[in-house]
Amino acid sequence: MHDGVEQIGNSAEQNSKKEKQNNNNVEQVGNTTEKISNVINNIVNNHNIASNNRFCAINRCSMTGNNIQNDKSITPKKQKTPSESAVEMTQLVLPNDTNILGNLLGGRLMHWIDIAGAMAASRHSNRVVATVALDSLDFRHPVRCGELLILKAKLTWVGRTSMEVKVEVFAENYRTGAVIQTNKAYITYVALDDEGRPTPVPELIPETEEEKIEYEQAKIRREERLARRETT
Ligand SMILES: CC(C)(COP(=O)(O)OP(=O)(O)OC[C@H]1O[C@@H](n2cnc3c(N)ncnc32)[C@H](O)[C@@H]1OP(=O)(O)O)[C@@H](O)C(=O)NCCC(=O)NCCS
Repeated sequence: MHDGVEQIGNSAEQNSKKEKQNNNNVEQVGNTTEKISNVINNIVNNHNIASNNRFCAINRCSMTGNNIQNDKSITPKKQKTPSESAVEMTQLVLPNDTNILGNLLGGRLMHWIDIAGAMAASRHSNRVVATVALDSLDFRHPVRCGELLILKAKLTWVGRTSMEVKVEVFAENYRTGAVIQTNKAYITYVALDDEGRPTPVPELIPETEEEKIEYEQAKIRREERLARRETT
């Protein structure tokens, strides 16, 4: 009987120890959770700061072109042909570029079209450029994950400070070699000086028959665009 009481007493003591241990564990888990949460908060904050810095850097870069050496002793050409500034850009469509059906996201495609067009416009003008208008963009065929996307950008027309660029998009299945045109877009860019103001661009000299036709058609598109700008 006495032994039994002692055993019960011991068990009570052990239970109390276990309870303390559990409390310690809970406390430790609580501390660890707090630490993990602090680490996550720090990562998120650092990421936000880095993103902001990157965003500001891109803004500074696009307004001034300061990250690119500007040798003022080189005189830019006064006239250029469309082929002198033409750009061909190839992208591999990866899972991160696609929607849940495995097709290229429209927004990603528009981003690449804008980049390809801006490179051609910058090559022509030797300036940083701003996008001012993007004509309608239709999606004729879905582009699948794993396909190669080829973007061909070429100037079609220039005004005093603005330039129209045609961007044609092709999807290539590298396993079969099949290539299909998926999109076409006309984008207008404006060349900017170091203060971010519109600045004159070289004249465009269309050479081929196709370039001459594009040039004439571009004038009509520009009139329509400017009329649209007036009414919106
Ligand atoms: C680019 C910007 C500085 C030009 O300023 P602005 O006051 O419109 O300048 P202007 O009126 O002198 O126009 C400049 C040229 O662009 C043309 N233009 C302006 N808006 C246009 C439009 N919607 N469609 C076609 N051309 C247009 C003008 O006809 C002019 O062409 P020209 O010099 O060849 O005759 C200003 O419009 C701007 O900052 N826009 C926002 C750009 C932007 O944020 N783009 C997205 C990220 S890059």
